[in-house]
Amino acid sequence: MTKKIPLKIITHGEFCLTQTPDPCGVVIFGASGDLTHRKIIPALYHLYQNKLLAADFFVLGIARTPKSDESFRSEILKVLADKHKPNIDIDVKLQKEFSQCHYYQSGDYADPLVYQTIKNRLQQIKNNSNQSANIIFYLATPSDLVCEIIQNLAMAQLIQSSDHTPWSHVVIEKPFGHDLESASKLNKAIHQHLSEKQIYKIDHYLGKETVQNILMFRFSNTIFEPLWNRQYIDHIQITAAETLGVEHRAGYYDKAGVLRDMFQNHMLQLLALVAMEPPCRFESDQYRDEKVKLLRAIRPTPLDRLSEFAVRGQYGEGMIDGKKVLSFQDESGVDPHSQTETFAAIKLFIDNWRWEGVPFYLRSGKRLQNFATEIVIQFKNVPHSMFYPMSKEQIAANFLSFRIQPDEGISLAFEAKHPGPKTCMASVNLNFSYQDIFGTKSLPDAYERLLLDCMLNEPILFSRQDMIEFSWGFITPILKAWKDENESLLPLPIYEAGSWGPELAKELIQQDGREWKLS
Ligand code: BG6
Repeated sequence: MTKKIPLKIITHGEFCLTQTPDPCGVVIFGASGDLTHRKIIPALYHLYQNKLLAADFFVLGIARTPKSDESFRSEILKVLADKHKPNIDIDVKLQKEFSQCHYYQSGDYADPLVYQTIKNRLQQIKNNSNQSANIIFYLATPSDLVCEIIQNLAMAQLIQSSDHTPWSHVVIEKPFGHDLESASKLNKAIHQHLSEKQIYKIDHYLGKETVQNILMFRFSNTIFEPLWNRQYIDHIQITAAETLGVEHRAGYYDKAGVLRDMFQNHMLQLLALVAMEPPCRFESDQYRDEKVKLLRAIRPTPLDRLSEFAVRGQYGEGMIDGKKVLSFQDESGVDPHSQTETFAAIKLFIDNWRWEGVPFYLRSGKRLQNFATEIVIQFKNVPHSMFYPMSKEQIAANFLSFRIQPDEGISLAFEAKHPGPKTCMASVNLNFSYQDIFGTKSLPDAYERLLLDCMLNEPILFSRQDMIEFSWGFITPILKAWKDENESLLPLPIYEAGSWGPELAKELIQQDGREWKLS
């Protein structure tokens, strides 16, 4: 068991860049949906509260259900009340003021006439405020509606050309396609109406503070970079473990599975951040070019030895936090014979100078024992032990952990002399915790930074099409191989809810003489 020694940090000063966006309105398609309520509205409210939105900011919500502006505003107040944290005073006046910036329009997304109505409503709202605002069209809808909505927006001339001011941006949620072919097809279809500069494909992991910090950590310190390569690093692990099950998203998830849901986007993005080369500048294209170089260097999985590189499983019933939970197949909305994987573990290699021969192990799943997203950089053992008779293998190798969530922080495990008259060694930890150092009880939600960047015309934290296609390029052959296994009726391993996934996941890493680890 490693002991945690708090690391004292003296802050030498802060360097912050802040900017308030030009007047901007947000048109949300899917305004009554879960994403709007859970993420978009609370994020906009926090930006509003922190005076980071331009004056005359507004939201026009679009959904099927008929509703007046007034009832949409009451809905917004309810969303904020539900999100409210105990022990924090509610600013009733500010919430009311914020809700007054909201308007609503009902309509069927397939009906071109609805888009004329949206155009008129936008004109009215802008006339009232005397502003020519930039517009974000936020597609918080199921992904199969994306193409149709964009076509209709273009037909109604609601989308301006990319160099036009005021501009229009379209925010698209994942999944972008369901494999390489469909993602390329979708891309071609939407590029008929939008340039890449106008498309903001969200991967919310990239907006997380702890994920943004990976680059700061790697490239604003000198001491780690010389070690960040195959000479010193034995392997890297990335874990994204959830205790939650499929919840109310069975319709989507049963078709997607964990590879599409977590690996194609979040997991490969974390991998890119931890393994990419430094761009010359923190500038959107240079930064994303480096990520693309990394993603295209991932070695394709040898399909003839698939089980050595990729394993999967589906959760059965079990216990989570002392409560009995259903198996995936028994969840409401899931096909009782579903062969969809809710867990996957993958081993991969990156074919470049820095990482040749270093394995990367990635695992993610639902209904696992703990909720933890963490990246572990496992360094090599010392080359020689001077502490005879202790062998070099008996001296624990250093490891560095990025705790993405929860208990956000970074820790470095190293060996130290255990105090006493004998020569004893103990593994100890240098630990940096966001809460201890920055005093923030909860970090800002990823959506706040991403929405603000979109308003500021800053795509750096959004996925570019080539990134998406290289990720699909790696994932699609595995998806196809698993589909073939399902068709040939090969049974899908079931793991107990509340465990760490199927036994095969342990074997995947143990076959190389290593263990999964979390700090
Ligand atoms: C989403 C997935 O993108 O990320 C969900 O669709 C998953 O299935 C979620 O639960 C995890 O996000 P977070 O921010 O809770 O780690």
